[in-house]
Amino acid sequence: MTRVFQEVHAVLPQATLDEAARQEFINQLGKHVLNEFTPGTRVAYERDVLPTFKREHGREPTDRHEIRKVMIEHPFYRMTSSFQRTVQEMMWDSVDESIQRQLPDLIDTSRKIAAGNTIGSISLKDGFEIPRYVSENDHHAMPGGYSGDLCDGDITAGALYDRGAFIYTQGLFGPRMDGIGKAASIMARRLWPGLAPKKILEIGCTAGGSTVGLKAMFPDAEVHAIDVGAAVLRYAHARAESLGVPLHFHQMSGEALEFDDASFDMICCLASLHETSLTATHNIFKEAFRVLKPGGRFLVSELPPYEGVDAWTQFVRDWDTYNNAEPYWGRVHELDFSDVATQAGFDRTHYGQGFGTGVAEANALTSAVEVQNKKFMGSTRGGGQAWYAWMTKAG
Ligand SMILES: C[S@@+](CC[C@H](N)C(=O)[O-])C[C@H]1O[C@@H](n2cnc3c(N)ncnc32)[C@H](O)[C@@H]1O
Repeated sequence: MTRVFQEVHAVLPQATLDEAARQEFINQLGKHVLNEFTPGTRVAYERDVLPTFKREHGREPTDRHEIRKVMIEHPFYRMTSSFQRTVQEMMWDSVDESIQRQLPDLIDTSRKIAAGNTIGSISLKDGFEIPRYVSENDHHAMPGGYSGDLCDGDITAGALYDRGAFIYTQGLFGPRMDGIGKAASIMARRLWPGLAPKKILEIGCTAGGSTVGLKAMFPDAEVHAIDVGAAVLRYAHARAESLGVPLHFHQMSGEALEFDDASFDMICCLASLHETSLTATHNIFKEAFRVLKPGGRFLVSELPPYEGVDAWTQFVRDWDTYNNAEPYWGRVHELDFSDVATQAGFDRTHYGQGFGTGVAEANALTSAVEVQNKKFMGSTRGGGQAWYAWMTKAG
């Protein structure tokens, strides 16, 4: 079995032996549920649910909503779904208990780093208003979501994401959790040979793992990253400093960028749009268009569309929408990003979309890691391929 260990940095919560054992147990339990129990839902569908549906309607279900309506009544589906959700909550709890035990020390470390001689920067705003689609939801059942700010100088949300996401992806994003940023950079180079951006902006950076990946692949660029949560940004800044990566973090919404027109060469939204509302996605595209230089590139990595996927697979992938506090998940799968782009000002002829570089390739991880991850919690956490939309600002 291929095993990937998370790279230690100054604010990474360290697990005691007991905590590590609990995290490992939950990790294995999650895999067991998904590999041994969840596949039985397909059997229940084909043996019980589908024949009844056909008898009653004289046809097969046409979409995921029809399948869901009948499947949620089936006891086996209810049981496996409940197992999946419970394991997800247990996973966050196992990380959170370890963070809370060492929180004062972690906050102290992040404060000392921010007050010292830094190579990057952080700017937070008093009274910053977090958009409701972030503040009122605990995305993927992460306690407190991305906006939790529990005490003065809190870093919990960043630590939860950094450690929790490493556990639930079982290391697939790489030891530095930078796989998404590295994969996007490789994709960008393939799309636009000779690309050499001087200034890059990442919208929705959370703990800054993807931002570290962007900087690794474009070391000459000045890299900025924004998020709405203060605790994720404090953590991201301390983390990047500790890893020796110069990055500039800002508390800011992608819907209202406080940057000059035509000031960036490349902007990225890496796995962030499925955590925003539809209106926000439109606003973010408009703002990206505004602050890109003429000829600037916008790269989005997101959940792949449902279009062309059979109704059962759509239903399986939609599990997160209803059970994992991902209210925008299904909506993003249906979104026509080319429409959003053209409404924001991008020329349709400068728009493209499709599958491309995945995180496993970016971190040169073996397919064994990929196989372990394939069925873990939802549909899209495999590392082989990622889905992208890309566009260029004319000029
Ligand atoms: C799934 S995480 C992104 C993960 C990160 N890019 C990575 O790969 O490690 C989504 C992030 O988008 C942020 N976000 C949501 N709406 C935003 C907005 N309007 N402006 C900036 N960030 C936003 C959330 O707070 C959250 O931290």
